[in-house]
Amino acid sequence: MIMDVGDKTDVVASLILRAERVVALTGAGISTESGIPDFRSPGGIWSRYDPDEFSFQRFLASETTRRKYWEFSRDFYPVVANAKPNAAHLALAELYRLGKLHCVITQNVDGLHQKAGIPEDKVIEIHGTLLFVVCLDCGKRYPRDEIQRRVTRGEIPPRCGACGGILKPATISFGQPMPAREMRLAEEAAASCDLFMVVGTSLVVYPAAALPLLAKRSGARLVIINLTPTAHDNYADVVIHGKASDALQKIITLVKAKMR
Ligand code: APR
Repeated sequence: MIMDVGDKTDVVASLILRAERVVALTGAGISTESGIPDFRSPGGIWSRYDPDEFSFQRFLASETTRRKYWEFSRDFYPVVANAKPNAAHLALAELYRLGKLHCVITQNVDGLHQKAGIPEDKVIEIHGTLLFVVCLDCGKRYPRDEIQRRVTRGEIPPRCGACGGILKPATISFGQPMPAREMRLAEEAAASCDLFMVVGTSLVVYPAAALPLLAKRSGARLVIINLTPTAHDNYADVVIHGKASDALQKIITLVKAKMR
């Protein structure tokens, strides 16, 4: 039976109401409507920069790469810092406030789920965060704004004030080890939920892309909301191809109506 989006949002709302524990996994697609480009859509970040150029190994090995990386990051950071949560972030935050969202696992580094009102400890940032900078030598963490001021004044690449070591935004680059605590929390959340909602990700980057499959294998229903087909659509119980803000606003309206 081919359902139209209207029927699908109604089915998703019912799944949410019946679920004991809902977990969401988000990607760059949930933040494009906040003005932050994603990576693999036409015009996305990887259509303008070579991801291999920005691998963790290259960053460690070459001062030139660090300079290029920090020039990109200096110019990209204001887009993230000035971004506001959009209707999709706000809908997930409302779902959380209604007690119908256990936590959000996010591949995003923009902090918009927290800005939308989801508590820090309920947002699992498996690819780190752009809002802090870390010294790769001594581990000292800096608020990004402090380092942003220094790189904007020309200190590129910036050095650690404590040990002179290499500074890098606290994000996870290709080839960089995943944060062990966040990955453990994400896997535990995926394995213990009964509804896993994927929003705005192409599901091509692992280990994040393995989480929906872990949830499914653990008995959860799987919902995927994405503008374009994803690598795991065929595992999903419901797939909605459309804008995250449209779909999630419809779903949260239906959830609240059904809760009355
Ligand atoms: N609503 C819903 N989906 C959207 C929207 C929108 N408004 N805008 C874009 N999308 C979809 C795109 O169609 C695309 O399939 O979001 C998806 C974003 O996919 P990617 O650009 O691959 O981003 P993501 O899946 O988050 O990338 C994963 O790759 O480069 C690394 O570390 C980076 O965290 C990132 C990871």
